[in-house]
Amino acid sequence: MSLKLTWYGHSAFGLDIDGTNILIDPFLTNNPLAPVSADTLEASYIMLTHAHGDHLGDTVAIAQRTKATVIGNVEVTNWLGKQGIQNVHVLSLGDGFTFPFGQVTYVKAEHGSAFPDGTDGGQACGIILEAQDKRIYFAGDTALFPEMKLIGERKIDLACLPIGGHFTMGPDDALTAIDWIHPQVVFPIHYNTFPDIYQDVAAWARRVNNETSAQAIVVDPGSSFSV
Ligand code: NI
Ligand code: MN
Repeated sequence: MSLKLTWYGHSAFGLDIDGTNILIDPFLTNNPLAPVSADTLEASYIMLTHAHGDHLGDTVAIAQRTKATVIGNVEVTNWLGKQGIQNVHVLSLGDGFTFPFGQVTYVKAEHGSAFPDGTDGGQACGIILEAQDKRIYFAGDTALFPEMKLIGERKIDLACLPIGGHFTMGPDDALTAIDWIHPQVVFPIHYNTFPDIYQDVAAWARRVNNETSAQAIVVDPGSSFSV
């Protein structure tokens, strides 16, 4: 049993769950932090939190090449269908589904969602993944919202939270989110990609370790860690 995560910068992850490759929000081509190009990544599944260009990223090209199943809400999967991506799986908020690699539940995010061409992307989401006896919360792009306390009742092992500010929670609200979610481990995302979201991540990680019950993990883009 193993669950390995590789961070590609911003909100983009590659997961290896016992040999199944899953990408989340695969934004690589225009991502200055991306350590690899999109055409090197393998995927059986791609999960999208919302339609913004820095999350949709290279989804269409990767899905065309790999034939990966793309998981997203109905607006997202409809738009992908119009781009010729037919291998999709629709999940709505609260709509848990058990895939061969684990259970995926889409939860609320407090954020907008539109495609780069202006098409409405429906509700922006976070994702809770249960696999290999671990529960991981990918918050996506979100402001702080009080129902994070309910997410905390699910016993989250790892929470991936935005800290960049400007478009999402910033460092202070992310600390409040940790108090509400009380994960064992927290991984910061959506920072330092662009000047608007530069943050001192080392200082934030020290605050996490000193002021909350969670442990912060900080890695360089392209690095992997296990839970
Ligand atoms: Ni966004
Ligand atoms: Mn974003």
